[in-house]
Parts: sequence; C-alpha cells; structure tokens
Amino acid sequence: MSTYHADVPELLDRRDGPYGEVALRRRGPHFEIIANGTFLMDTADGRSERVLITAALDALDEPRGAHVLIGGLGVGFSLAEAARDRRPGRITVVEREQAIIDWHTAGDAPLAPFAGEGHADPRAGIVHADLLEHLRSTGDRYDALCLDIDNGPDWTVTASNDSLYGDKGLDLLDRTLADKGVLAVWSAAHSPAFEARLRARFGRVEVIEVPVHVERGVPDVVYLSSRT
Ligand SMILES: C[S@@+](CC[C@H](N)C(=O)[O-])C[C@H]1O[C@@H](n2cnc3c(N)ncnc32)[C@H](O)[C@@H]1O
Repeated sequence: MSTYHADVPELLDRRDGPYGEVALRRRGPHFEIIANGTFLMDTADGRSERVLITAALDALDEPRGAHVLIGGLGVGFSLAEAARDRRPGRITVVEREQAIIDWHTAGDAPLAPFAGEGHADPRAGIVHADLLEHLRSTGDRYDALCLDIDNGPDWTVTASNDSLYGDKGLDLLDRTLADKGVLAVWSAAHSPAFEARLRARFGRVEVIEVPVHVERGVPDVVYLSSRT
C-alpha cells in the first residue's frame, strides 16, 4: 500500500524523446506532466482549458459540424470539453509526445479519465505529430484552431515552439484557418507583444481572462481571434 503526500510527487513514468524528457507524476489525487524540465499541466482544475474550446465554438457563426483542431493533448481537459459538446463534427487532437498519448491509451492509461468521452468519441482522433509540422503539411482548413501547447507565447516548452507565435507561425495558422474560422490560443499570462501581432492581422481579437485558484496567481488568458 502506498501513502500519498500532497507535497511529495511520485514519479510514475519518464521518457526521453526528441523534445527532451517528459515525466508523469502523481501528487496526492492529482497527476502532473513535466516536459523538458518545465511544469506543463496538472489535473487540478481545467477551467481555462475548457474555455479554450467553448469560447471558440461560441464565437463561430455556424458551430454545428465544425472541424476543431486541439493543439496539445495534455491531460485531456480540452478534448473532454470538445467531446461533451454536440456542435463539433470532427475533433482532431495533435500531440507530439508518444508518452502522453500512451498515458491516455495504453495499459491502465492514468490520464484517460480526464479526457471524458474523448477517446471513445467517433468524431475525435489523435494525430501523433508536431503541431507546426502538421500545420505545414495538412490539407485541412479548420473552423476552430484551439492551441495550448505551451505555458504561453512568452513561455514555450521548447525553443522549436517559439515560431508558432511569431509572424511565420501566424501565417501558418492563417492558412489553415477556414474563412469564417476562429483561432483560440491559451496562455498562463498576458502577452502584450503577441496580442499586438494578433491585432495587426485579425479584424476581431478578444482577450478572455479566467481566474485561477492559486493565491496571488495571475489569471489564465485565452486569445480569441477571427477575421471579422
Ligand atoms: C499544456 S498541455 C495541453 C493541455 C490541454 N489543453 C489539456 O486540456 O490538458 C500541452 C501539450 O502540448 C503538447 N505539445 C507541446 N508542444 C507541441 C507541439 N509542437 N506539437 C504538438 N504538441 C505539442 C505537450 O506534449 C502537451 O501534451
């Protein structure tokens, strides 16, 4: 029998991969993902990860049948929200870490419960790929691009993700976004420079703050952009 102490994490798995080490830890009742030495996500809350999906769908003129891309599987909160919603017609999750996909789908799959009905939903599928590579190569145009691959534009998990938030990355996103589509980007804090780049390119930009349950913590932010 093991005893859990909230302040002492238990290492459940760790893997070395092309983007550094990814580790899954349990802390009391919660799981957390550490990637390349950066705390990425835990299962404690998930409100802003759900807002990433609902705000994007609510902003679409015609959300029914929408093709939603979720950038980054993580613990699966965003996937759970998309699957809970009847509006999307197709849900594509792009995740680059095989370990994270395995923690959802292989063996006792400790993260699967946090993805709700996402893994059983016939509308949903996981693509094992780097998001930037996927955006370069896909022939699809998405109605909602819901991106949460980093702690934010100013706090990326690997340097290779930096370009997503610059002009070249926004070119890629522009190309893969349907004409009346919505781009939603999650961040753990405001990023004035990124917001300015969005405003220079998109006709409509909304900044949504989601309070966090951490004493003195700054709100999470979802940047919502569309052409009109
Ligand atoms: C913060 S978590 C995602 C949280 C997710 N919204 C949720 O509800 O759990 C970030 C995820 O993005 C993945 N990721 C990071 N960079 C990526 C990239 N370039 N392409 C695809 N996935 C990436 C990480 O491996 C991790 O699973």
